[in-house]
Amino acid sequence: MANTISSSTIATIVTQTLQQCQFNTSFTFRSPAITVTGPYCVNQLGATLHELGAKHVLLVVDKMVWQLGLTSSCETAIELAGLTLTLFTDVQGEPDSELVVKGVAMLKASGADFVLGLGGGSALDAAKAIAVLGDYKGALSEFVVGGLASRTVGLGAIPTTAGTGSEATDITVIKDVVNNIKVPVKGPALVPDLALLDPALMLGVPSSITAATGIDTLTHAIEAYTSRQSNPLAQAYAYHSIEMVIKALPVAVGCGDDMDMRHSMAIAAYKAGLSFSNSGLGLVHAISHQIGSFYHIPHGVANAILLPYVMVFNRLCCENSYAEIAKALGVDRDSMTKRELCQAAILRVRQLIIDLGLPTSLAGFEVNPTDFTTIAEQAMSDICLTGTPRQVNALQIVSLLELAFVGDLEMEGS
Ligand SMILES: [Fe+2]
Repeated sequence: MANTISSSTIATIVTQTLQQCQFNTSFTFRSPAITVTGPYCVNQLGATLHELGAKHVLLVVDKMVWQLGLTSSCETAIELAGLTLTLFTDVQGEPDSELVVKGVAMLKASGADFVLGLGGGSALDAAKAIAVLGDYKGALSEFVVGGLASRTVGLGAIPTTAGTGSEATDITVIKDVVNNIKVPVKGPALVPDLALLDPALMLGVPSSITAATGIDTLTHAIEAYTSRQSNPLAQAYAYHSIEMVIKALPVAVGCGDDMDMRHSMAIAAYKAGLSFSNSGLGLVHAISHQIGSFYHIPHGVANAILLPYVMVFNRLCCENSYAEIAKALGVDRDSMTKRELCQAAILRVRQLIIDLGLPTSLAGFEVNPTDFTTIAEQAMSDICLTGTPRQVNALQIVSLLELAFVGDLEMEGS
């Protein structure tokens, strides 16, 4: 007897297909109004701030970056342009709501009309939150998704590491000290007006941090490329970011003073940021957010451990995408099938992580496998899971964590 499909089932399938089509072909893409890039381009900062109408800049910096004197060229550029400068140097580690409240108070007291973040992801996230939460009176947790369509001050970002891509994104992550949770705050107003990518500011970044933040960039690009919420523009940026990372990251790690490769990584991080800001991330970030909090594993390191395992898990739904990514990674032989290209992409990513000296399992960390169920349940409610290409449940995440714990990539499994 032939199987029959009810009309309501057909209607559901058609509706879902149409929604999927609309999602991929009709989209909004946001990016900074002005992007300035190149060695020593910080010298163009004053003119660019004038172009954006800034008169008084609140410079939000990592305390360590400031103590190392890395802000001096930026401060000089602002002052030479005749703009008023107020420094906020309290950023140390991941920003929390108390820091943001302090920064907002300084913004109001100073009368600054432009907030400029300079430093790693923490300084940029802090600057973005200070710029948009200045007039907000409610609870931080109400901003999880959606709000923040406008702000009353200008916003710029100058990264000193190539990783988070925060200079290009519509998201900031702030720890809510009242509820002791990290709150992703997302909205169009968080996209900076200005992104300035000066590789000269990145030359002194230690190799271990360059490696970890670089793999964060690669993870952003791969997750954005394969997200169910992706779109052609986001995929184009992600693909080019992957091409740049595979060429530039090993040299940037091995020869930190190579300006060209530092510049390539700065652009790769920016492109990956643009991509995931306009498409979303996936399971790697959903889990790494949790193990980062549980075990204080740096974000890029957590991503490096998880990325190959998640790619193995996702390949059921990502064979075509991973075959395309293989080409971006330089693995491209005419004789290879899509399945072979897919496998080769995963192995290429794994080899890069090994070459960079990053860990390939959780075994070297003080990780307790009895935590995995709790971690998996928390990962299931992480905002990054919404676009993940393969549906996943908590038990599957526990299994994935167990494989990552023992270091078994299980390439022929699943
Ligand atoms: Fe990330």
